[in-house]
Amino acid sequence: MPKFVINGQRPLAGEISVRGAKNAALKILPAALLSAEPITIKNLPRIQDVDLSIKLLEELGAEVDRGQDSATIRIETITDSRISATANKLRASVVFTGPLLARMREVRFPHPGGCVIGAGTRPIDLFLEGFAALGAEVEEADGYYSIRADKLSGGEYFFTTISVTGTETLMMAAVLAEGKTILKNCALEPEIAALAAYLNSQGAKISGAGTATIVIDGVKRISAGEFTIMPDRIEAGTFAIMAAATKAELTIRDCDPSHLEALLSIFSKIGVKFSAGKDYLTIRKSPDISSYSVKTHEYPGFPTDLQSPYTVLMTQARGSAIIHETIYDRRLLFTDMLAQMGADIIMCDPHRVVVNGPSKLYGRKLTSPDLRAGIAMIIAGLTAEGKTEIDNIYQIDRGYERIDERLRSLGADITRQDD
Ligand code: EPZ
Repeated sequence: MPKFVINGQRPLAGEISVRGAKNAALKILPAALLSAEPITIKNLPRIQDVDLSIKLLEELGAEVDRGQDSATIRIETITDSRISATANKLRASVVFTGPLLARMREVRFPHPGGCVIGAGTRPIDLFLEGFAALGAEVEEADGYYSIRADKLSGGEYFFTTISVTGTETLMMAAVLAEGKTILKNCALEPEIAALAAYLNSQGAKISGAGTATIVIDGVKRISAGEFTIMPDRIEAGTFAIMAAATKAELTIRDCDPSHLEALLSIFSKIGVKFSAGKDYLTIRKSPDISSYSVKTHEYPGFPTDLQSPYTVLMTQARGSAIIHETIYDRRLLFTDMLAQMGADIIMCDPHRVVVNGPSKLYGRKLTSPDLRAGIAMIIAGLTAEGKTEIDNIYQIDRGYERIDERLRSLGADITRQDD
């Protein structure tokens, strides 16, 4: 099994360029199903979740020409309305159901897999209720869902829980529905507004994306064109936290600091020295960082995807911080591995830990339970004295392109080894 081996406490410095946003790529790829015309997607990250999404598209009849960081997708006719078991490896495969239902009026799919962070099996009740609100019939048998509709009609749906993929999936299903759809209590992530802007440029009629209420006037068809994926704000925030934790001097290029206000407002409070421009963020050596409690929240609040890296940073900060993870049920489980490395962490309940710092961390053998805990372990390994080994690194490769190569260019002693 491949693993990362890190020898910690090497001085890190230099520049790192941010890749296209994973959580934008995983929506614009299924969006290709909405049109019979070819779409070209640029700034596409080379990560395993993108590979899986492209595999799903090809299984549905798409022709995909892949460049170094782009892809052109042609799906004149969709040859299947069933999403294969490939979906079991990718939670975001659930997004395919919206465009498929819109184009084919039916879709069959397995329960989507992916990270283990959500409650139980990562519920999809919001998606099923939303499809029913558009007039579809939903059946479930042996872990497979069948959704069909003679025609999709505009409807109204209130998300009882805010869901980014739920918002994007239903928005796309409604694009080709007959009539007006009103989605309420939508997620506000910037990737949603970018997706809606692209769809509108191809003939869709979506208003309010980026706010809590999105209104979609259905159209008969949309065309397709070119879409450039925005910088990955979570990758940018992760690198910024890594620089602060390892006392590095780091410039993060090709990012959008305006998407990181929740993190940067905390950096200002806790003594992390930084300067930001339109598309870069420079973190300067910050010897004395103080603790600050965070509560994860949907955008523009503190992102749950930065919670794990931030928890590592708090082990190096002076004082006590409560980390309150409000979105996912299992996203703090990785802290017991941080404790094994020497961190002073008390789990109050499954959603809250107290981190006392600063603590010296020591290298250990670790297993990455999910994507964001995995990158947090890399940050802990870079900060720790001695050698850290991290296995199950598929979970990290899913979302961070060539992460070992890119960190080595900053001076990190990290290698990928296969037992
Ligand atoms: C998106 O997930 C991201 N994933 C997540 O990133 C990110 O953490 C999250 O937004 C931030 O809110 C993608 O964009 C592909 P959910 P989202 O499964 O919001 C509940 C990463 O590491 N829920 O909808 O689509 C669920 O239990 C990933 O890049 C229901 O109750 O996530 C959770 O509490 C992790 N019923 C909340 O909503 C449903 O039908 C969000 O979960 C669906 C979700």
